[in-house]
Amino acid sequence: MDPFSILACDAPAMEARLDALAALLCDAVAHGASVNFLAGLQAPRARQFWEGQRDGIAAGTTRLLLAEREGVPCGTVLVFLAQQPNAPHRAEIGKMLVHSSQRRQGLGRCLLAAAEAAARAEGRSLLLLDTEAGSAGDKLYRACGWTEFGRVPDHAFRPHGVLAETVYFYKQIGPHRRADAR
Ligand SMILES: CC(C)(COP(=O)(O)OP(=O)(O)OC[C@H]1O[C@@H](n2cnc3c(N)ncnc32)[C@H](O)[C@@H]1OP(=O)(O)O)[C@@H](O)C(=O)NCCC(=O)NCCS
Repeated sequence: MDPFSILACDAPAMEARLDALAALLCDAVAHGASVNFLAGLQAPRARQFWEGQRDGIAAGTTRLLLAEREGVPCGTVLVFLAQQPNAPHRAEIGKMLVHSSQRRQGLGRCLLAAAEAAARAEGRSLLLLDTEAGSAGDKLYRACGWTEFGRVPDHAFRPHGVLAETVYFYKQIGPHRRADAR
């Protein structure tokens, strides 16, 4: 099996890979993943999603990590660093995607570990995310030590229009730092 590398993308690196990022998002939706879009997602709309992350990545409030095999992107994860003054210790994880042809080879686990490390490097100690109940993501997060803290029935439509339950997870990845009152 070819090795893969995990790359922290700045805004120019992301822009250079917009087509590949869009293809990864379209692939996930086409294979039934509930990742905010409906069936039939096309590349231009998927590109728009990634373009929408550019400002956050450029500002350093969003981190994009990309898994690549032989220079070809095959997985992504976003880390959103909370900007509220009372939440300097918090971050959210999103768009955890591994190409359908490359799943169950450990990429998801490695991307998630890289996302946790990136958050820790920014002084973040509490991570949050949500996913469709019973999905591969649900299983991945449990396998990686995340704790479920609630469920909302009928929270989002799956790609083909059926409502599904969302499950919420958190993970504490270090000691919490003090917020500096100003
Ligand atoms: C969720 C996702 C990122 C997992 O990526 P992956 O590379 O296949 O995950 P890994 O191979 O690292 O799996 C690590 C562990 O998670 C669990 N796991 C992952 N996918 C699973 C599945 N489909 N069924 C059961 N367990 C699963 C297993 O414990 C697995 O360990 P194992 O293979 O040794 O049993 C991938 O399935 C995906 O992109 N799905 C579509 C997008 C999506 O739903 N993302 C989550 C939205 S929040």
